[in-house]
Amino acid sequence: MSKKSIVLGITGGIAAYKVADLCSKLTQQSYDVHVIMTKSAQELITARTFLTLSKNPVMTNLWDETDWQPGHVALAERAEILVIAPCTADFIGKFTHGIADDALTTYALTHSGKVLLAPAMNPKMWNNAAVQANVAILKERGIEFIGPASGHVACGNNGLGRMSEPSDILGKINKLDA
Ligand SMILES: Cc1cc2nc3c(=O)[nH]c(=O)nc-3n(C[C@H](O)[C@H](O)[C@H](O)COP(=O)(O)O)c2cc1C
Repeated sequence: MSKKSIVLGITGGIAAYKVADLCSKLTQQSYDVHVIMTKSAQELITARTFLTLSKNPVMTNLWDETDWQPGHVALAERAEILVIAPCTADFIGKFTHGIADDALTTYALTHSGKVLLAPAMNPKMWNNAAVQANVAILKERGIEFIGPASGHVACGNNGLGRMSEPSDILGKINKLDA
């Protein structure tokens, strides 16, 4: 059975380093993985890591394209699943309100397949009324979520905000792909 094309969107959460493992596991399962990184994500982990692990070019800037057709449009025609991990409060807000101001948010509005978000943030951010209202809107639109999990978060707190483990995200992708 041929595996699906996945767009793996990486936003500026400290859990971005764990997503290298997810990317590697996806390619080992023969998924065709296309990574798009936000500017903040690139402060935390390099595009080269994902170039090597995904074996595909990594989209980091909407304006780098040299092809006649913007890369995000071409990708949207073949990618069946969009996974955002880690997914910041910022991305959730932009996606909810249709904002497209970089390669990833622009791609997300172009994508017509399934969408899975793996939020990761400080528990106070996650519990913020604006974030929760945005999450409720996205769930009502059929957007899938995994996590966040409860436990230690990088800022030193404990609570709901940890990104789900890469193996759990992989399991959810496999279910969406079934
Ligand atoms: C070291 C560091 C870690 C961060 N971790 C998170 C995080 O886990 N979750 C989150 O929502 N924002 C986090 N932020 C804030 C985001 O990076 C910031 O809101 C940024 O604008 C997100 O942009 P993006 O959604 O385009 O990637 C962090 C910021 C810094 C400096």
